[in-house]
Amino acid sequence: MTNRESDRQWLDTTWERLRTKMAAECGRLGTTIPFAPRGGKYFDVEGTPLGLGFWTNGFWPGMLWQMYHATGEEQYREAAQGVERRLDSVLTGLDGVDHDAGFLFLLSAVADYRETGDPESRRRGIHAANLLAGRYNPAGRFIRAWDDHKGEQEMPAWMSAGGGVCGWMIVDCMMNLPLLYWASEETGDPRYRQIAENHARTAQRWIVRPDGSCNHLISLDPETGELLDSPGGQGYGPGSAWSRGQSWAVYGFALSYRHTGDMSFLNTAKQCAHYCIACLAANDWLPLVDYRAPEEPVKYDSDAGIITACGLLEIAEHVGEYEKGLYHTAAMRILRACTEQFCDWNPETDGIVGGGTTYYHDPCGRMSDLPIIYGDYYLIEALLRLRENAAFLW
Ligand code: GLY
Repeated sequence: MTNRESDRQWLDTTWERLRTKMAAECGRLGTTIPFAPRGGKYFDVEGTPLGLGFWTNGFWPGMLWQMYHATGEEQYREAAQGVERRLDSVLTGLDGVDHDAGFLFLLSAVADYRETGDPESRRRGIHAANLLAGRYNPAGRFIRAWDDHKGEQEMPAWMSAGGGVCGWMIVDCMMNLPLLYWASEETGDPRYRQIAENHARTAQRWIVRPDGSCNHLISLDPETGELLDSPGGQGYGPGSAWSRGQSWAVYGFALSYRHTGDMSFLNTAKQCAHYCIACLAANDWLPLVDYRAPEEPVKYDSDAGIITACGLLEIAEHVGEYEKGLYHTAAMRILRACTEQFCDWNPETDGIVGGGTTYYHDPCGRMSDLPIIYGDYYLIEALLRLRENAAFLW
């Protein structure tokens, strides 16, 4: 069997497993909003410390919209729209929605609008874009990360250190920018796009290092935009390379290229991608939580690999014929390694991609090596991209 035939067989088998699992999960969950299963069962995040505004709450509706797009089965659309209505209180209450408004509302309301044309969903999307744009710091030309979490329990130490949270900018936010690009495309008002482009340029300047590795977090003076510090954030430490942050850079800069046509964004995406490909190739295509951390203990974050694969497939769409192969082949290698190592296809249990880890230094010991909802979203998107049947939700 050639490599191409073997990849095709893997794709067909994996898609069938996914269909079975998603049909079972959708039947069990409906409009439940899941984060990570406990004892093999999802629970709803409302009423937990995560709450309805938590950044991952768009991924379940995103999975449902991808399945609806691919299969046309109504149960997926109905459940996705039910979750979308549940998220309304996040838009009106302001409490809990931060720079991650893009993750939340691109995959719920904007996805609905893109799939069905519902004007109410469009209104929700524009409202969310206004909230995200309102976080822009014009002096520093960046979108502020997070809110002040001081006093909350179980927050890692780096999140409550110092007093300068309003000058923080993080690599993750690259994936929220498409909400702003969409709002400009939709309304004809360039301000949303201008904010997104300025943020992306500031990220190019301070977050991406010359070798393609990235800072997770940088601290800027909120009055002047001067660079103050670059702490380790969710990675091992200052100067390390948190793998999920790397994946957000690969995919996020590629999307900024798609929406603006600015070639420097594609080049930055490629620069970050080449760093990831080198690190993954040296480790059997399995993603460590941080690519620049001590060899022991070995800690994986499967989700970083799967998000990177989606970013590589996005890059492959924008490069020439003889360049595509690099990104496509690397994406296949990552996806095959991660599904073999981490996936649970049993339709009776919740969660598909195990091996997800939120922080390198896990403060409460409960957020490592587990299935997390965003890994499942990106796996579905990757498989459907390979089958040329993905809904474009970014
Ligand atoms: N906030 C995005 C992440 O933790 O990757």
